[in-house]
Amino acid sequence: MSDLDALQSKILADIANASDEAALEAVRVAALGKKGSISALLSTLGKMSPDERKTEGAKINLAKDTVTRALAARREVLKALALDARLASETIDVTLPLRETPAEAGRIHPLSQVWDEVTTIFADMGFAVAEGPDIETDDYNFTRLNFPEGHPAREMHDTFYFNPKDDGSRLLLRTHTSPVQVRTMLSQQPPIRVICPGRTYRSDSDQTHTPMFHQVEGLVIDKSSHLGHLKWILHEFCKAFFEVDNVNMRFRPSFFPFTEPSLEVDIQCRCDKNEIRFGEGEDWLEILGCGMVHPNVLKLCGIDPEVYQGFAWGMGIDRIAMLKYGIADLRQLFEGDVRWLTHYGFKPLEIPTLAGGLSS
Ligand code: DAH
Repeated sequence: MSDLDALQSKILADIANASDEAALEAVRVAALGKKGSISALLSTLGKMSPDERKTEGAKINLAKDTVTRALAARREVLKALALDARLASETIDVTLPLRETPAEAGRIHPLSQVWDEVTTIFADMGFAVAEGPDIETDDYNFTRLNFPEGHPAREMHDTFYFNPKDDGSRLLLRTHTSPVQVRTMLSQQPPIRVICPGRTYRSDSDQTHTPMFHQVEGLVIDKSSHLGHLKWILHEFCKAFFEVDNVNMRFRPSFFPFTEPSLEVDIQCRCDKNEIRFGEGEDWLEILGCGMVHPNVLKLCGIDPEVYQGFAWGMGIDRIAMLKYGIADLRQLFEGDVRWLTHYGFKPLEIPTLAGGLSS
């Protein structure tokens, strides 16, 4: 075998062994590059006699053509292999289940959902939402709501007080949302129609009490509002909230310093082991307190009781959330257990609307 044949065989073997395009390019440069083995042979032609050049030149050029074609052919093969490998690595199994996005996996807390349900229902009846701070003065939480200093009703509230200030006054964590009534009456003139949802605090903890809980207050003040209106509003609210055609309500006489007369409201239900039905059954569950706003409260909040009158109520949001969604222990609402939330929570796009259904 001539040297040229041997060289050509070696190069063709290298080409066949090149496993990727970079290796193939290295073989090309080693053979046909400026300092390549075949280029070196071609550069010897100049020194040959014309006859020699004719025969040797033809052989060398034939070898160069053979190598060039082999390179091109191998390049095509390697390109196809590279494409196959890439396609294989990028294969998508369209039958795999979709992974939930964070927006789908997240849950709205049942209390947030119920808060929205409540405001949606009252907004539909023309109520605005009023807010007040969690840290209140004794004046707004008690005095202007007609709890005189030393009145025993103050003791019933298990109040969290802050340390006394220099003047002896003490701030407190509001024990109910009723101080927002005071703030509303002091800042706006009747007619007033507001609800005040918010956090409230009492030093109390067991299966049905937590130190922080939620209430929604309602307040209507104008010249002629009366208990009949209050009854209708609460009845309509309960039907909408519990999503039933009929609820039976019981209004029992009660006492609150800031209302006269004062009433407590129970709704009729049947509480079986696993479910609660409203509007039937033998059980009665207390859901709120209400009454006609006491003339003293109107006076203390700058409203003339000779001209204006109205009613108010305070309802436990946690309470109605537990009733509606079958939550047995109030404390679960505040434990922050993700497994519990996955079960009882709501999908972020399940926004309550009256048209679309509150909890569907
Ligand atoms: N503030 C009362 C409580 O926390 C609830 C309440 C009762 C609010 C009667 C009212 C009302 O506005 O009229 O126990």
